[in-house]
Amino acid sequence: MSDARTFRAPGRVNLIGEHTDYNLGFVLPIALNLDTRIRTSPSLDSFLHVHSAAHGETCSVPVAGIDSLTPQGHWSDYIFGVAFQLRALGFDIPALNLHVESTVPEGAGLSSSAALEVASALALLQGRQLDRLELARLCQRAESYFVGMPCGIMDQYVSVFGREHAATKIDCRSLESEAVPLPDGLAIIAVNSMVKHSLGQSAYRERVAECAEAAKALGVASLREATLERLAGVPMSRAARLRARHVISENLRVEHFVEAARAGDVSRMGQLFLNSHDSMRYDYEISCAEIDFLVEAAARLPGCHGARMTGGGFGGCTVNLVAEQSVPAFAEAIKDAYMAYSGRCPAVIPCVPAPGACEIRQNT
Ligand code: GLA
Repeated sequence: MSDARTFRAPGRVNLIGEHTDYNLGFVLPIALNLDTRIRTSPSLDSFLHVHSAAHGETCSVPVAGIDSLTPQGHWSDYIFGVAFQLRALGFDIPALNLHVESTVPEGAGLSSSAALEVASALALLQGRQLDRLELARLCQRAESYFVGMPCGIMDQYVSVFGREHAATKIDCRSLESEAVPLPDGLAIIAVNSMVKHSLGQSAYRERVAECAEAAKALGVASLREATLERLAGVPMSRAARLRARHVISENLRVEHFVEAARAGDVSRMGQLFLNSHDSMRYDYEISCAEIDFLVEAAARLPGCHGARMTGGGFGGCTVNLVAEQSVPAFAEAIKDAYMAYSGRCPAVIPCVPAPGACEIRQNT
């Protein structure tokens, strides 16, 4: 009998509700059928050894030294950041070998980092109990305070709480969620632009600060509490006003999208996707030429109800609502169009809602 164990955590695609999580609003992601898997075995020294198959590298730290770790700007920061946060909650970190493999593409806006954090937390816990919401929050802290990316809770939350057969509407203020089943016959297709512009991280910070500025000017604790009527009457910088307009209208779009999904109204769902994309493009200013091309090209294709960028911005994937029977023709046509435009071959990724993170039990 081996002592090996395997833990998995999914990536996500966000259907709608972009940059609303750190404004304590609503988001509607699905946990993906793409995941990060970590195989663990006891290590024979007192070190934590982590090996990434994707990077072909191993990093080792003594378990006694985890409290004094600092970020290195390296893929291992996500894992050691989680170890650091577990120590802060009083958990001992066992001496282990961690072998990391992932089917979540990096830099595609499908949350490979949250999948890695959540899988790492389960791997390091080795079956010890931690409340699921605490698990998500711990991984968010690892990313915000250790890796240094001041993200919201969406990615880690859905990686923990994702459900099969449905999207997950998260209220980022109460941290409660509900299942939102999608209409039959509708496929969710991500199209990876294969570009990620490097201003992503600094632009994210800037947006977080501009939203805080707008909330302050409006006299509310978060933009979740703001309305478009109130926004119209309060002086603030141009950037803060545009960001606030996106966040307030995006929260409304999430509510409307959920209503439309429940009513099976796919053309309204598609229209809300396009409106959301315009809002990200013109008010939040986080799109880029490649993504705008993909959204516009998709919207013209038969069977595609709507498209928008998904994730933090400046590249990565679009998410498309496509009638199931049109998917093969859609995939062909969007590949051809994007190849002709950019010379790059986009990955077309069918997204199937998958359950949240868990241990994979071997039954052989
Ligand atoms: C990144 C962050 C999330 C969220 C999205 C934008 O994925 O990690 O918390 O803010 O961007 O919706």
